[in-house]
Amino acid sequence: MKLLSPSLLSANFGNLERDIELINKSNADWLHIDIMDGVFVPNISFGFPVLKYVKQLCTKPLDVHLMIVEPDKFINEVKETGAIMMNVHYEACTHLHRTIQRIHDAGMQAGVTLNPHTPVEVLEDIVADVEMVLLMSVNPGFGGQKFIENTYDKIRRLRAMIDRKGCKTLIQVDGGVNLKNAAALYEAGADCLVAGNAVFSADDMVATIAELKK
Ligand code: DX5
Ligand code: ZN
Repeated sequence: MKLLSPSLLSANFGNLERDIELINKSNADWLHIDIMDGVFVPNISFGFPVLKYVKQLCTKPLDVHLMIVEPDKFINEVKETGAIMMNVHYEACTHLHRTIQRIHDAGMQAGVTLNPHTPVEVLEDIVADVEMVLLMSVNPGFGGQKFIENTYDKIRRLRAMIDRKGCKTLIQVDGGVNLKNAAALYEAGADCLVAGNAVFSADDMVATIAELKK
C-alpha cells in the first residue's frame, strides 16, 4: 500500500485554513497530527482545542501521533477529534497491551510507535494486535530533521515479522521523509509515509504530495 499522511506540525498556523484546504484538494490519504507534552519529548506542539477546528476543516481522516507520557488519559479527547487512528509510543506505555485494548474499546484503530533506538523485535507479541506500527526515522519532537538511514533495515525486519505472522499491520515511517527517499521507503516495505517539511515548505503542496506517492 502507498499511503501519504502530511504532518500538520509543519503547516502555517497563521493560515491553517488555507493549508488544510490544499490538503483536502490533494491525494493525501490522511492528515498526521503530532501531539507533544514537553515531557516525553523536548517540545510542545498544539492541543485538543486546536484540533476541534482542524476536524471541522479537514476532509481527510486524522491519524494522531501522541508523543506524551500516560496517553491513556487522553483516549476520549483523541476520540473527540474524530481520529481513525491513535498512535502511542512503546517507550511511554508500561501496559501497552491494556492501552491498545482501551483504544480499540473507544472505537479507534490503534498504532504503536518506536523511537529510532528501539528495536522492532520488541513488537513480537503485540504487532498482530495493532493496525499500524509507526517507525520514527528521526528523534521525535521536531519537524525538518535529517532522516536516520538505519530505518530501512528496521522496515525490512518489521515487514518480515508481519509477513511471518500473516497479519495485516501497516508500517508507517515518520521523520525526514522527502522526494529523494520516499520511493525507496515504499520499496523497503513502508505502507504509509508521514511528511511535514517536504509538503508544507513546497511551492506546490498538491503536486508534491502526488510526487511523494509515486
Ligand atoms: C516529529 C513528528 C513528525 C514531524 C515530521 O516528532 O513526529 O511527524 O512532523 O516532520 P518532517 O517530515 O519535517 O521530518
Ligand atoms: Zn509524527
